[in-house]
Amino acid sequence: MTGSAQSLPHLVRCWQRGWGVACGLAPADEADGALHVLSGKPGRHLESLVLDADGDPGALRALAAQVAGSPHPDWLTVPTTAPREVAEVLGEEGLRLAAEQEHFMTIDLREHPDLPVAAPYAVSLDRDGPILDIRIVDEHDRPAAHGVMVVLDGVAVAHNIATYRTHRRRGLGGAVMSSLVRAAIGLGAETGLLTASRQGRHLYTALGWANRAGVVSAGTREPRR
Ligand SMILES: CC(C)(COP(=O)(O)OP(=O)(O)OC[C@H]1O[C@@H](n2cnc3c(N)ncnc32)[C@H](O)[C@@H]1OP(=O)(O)O)[C@@H](O)C(=O)NCCC(=O)NCCS
Repeated sequence: MTGSAQSLPHLVRCWQRGWGVACGLAPADEADGALHVLSGKPGRHLESLVLDADGDPGALRALAAQVAGSPHPDWLTVPTTAPREVAEVLGEEGLRLAAEQEHFMTIDLREHPDLPVAAPYAVSLDRDGPILDIRIVDEHDRPAAHGVMVVLDGVAVAHNIATYRTHRRRGLGGAVMSSLVRAAIGLGAETGLLTASRQGRHLYTALGWANRAGVVSAGTREPRR
């Protein structure tokens, strides 16, 4: 079964596992309708990922209240097909919304285009267990683009895809994704998952990825001094 036919909570679980491995995090704890992980990022002590905000709005509100009341700067991430309503709930519970909403996207990897890297760029792809790591350099061996994909149980999760500013719109983003997908299929992956920034969404849509849900994020407000 491909990503568009699977339930959002199932896909969110798969995405979190891949993302956690890509970031070198311990496995998440599941409680109260969310996956919780100590992320170690500045401003994000504990990150909680809501599994079924659309199906269980009560759990969403309770989790939002929990994060809002935390003594730490915690973070709540909510994949949802109703991003406006979710943002309202998070705001009502006293959370500080992230400036940009992201997008949860999926693709049947067999339908992904296989785009080459154009000269003068060169590609190198390394594998460490389930982690694929791609680097593209220019003719002076300077970094031009990179990306990571983690393959677990037939699902490939893309992470940290980027093209350096001066090399953008030359096909490198497409080439990074194509090389990663080719290698992921070789490891048995069938479904691709990622969360996309605004810029990333343009790239992935051009490559045939489908938007499965919005991703609304918010953090604990800093205490007033
Ligand atoms: C998103 C990003 C990786 C795209 O890399 P890129 O090398 O410029 O992408 P490509 O040149 O392969 O783009 C392929 C196609 O995607 C689409 N596309 C890519 N970036 C776009 C943008 N900013 N606006 C509109 N369309 C865009 C276009 O259709 C483009 O084809 P075209 O140039 O012939 O019109 C790059 O902008 C980036 O690193 N951004 C900052 C980090 C980031 O947001 N990464 C994504 C995290 S999810």
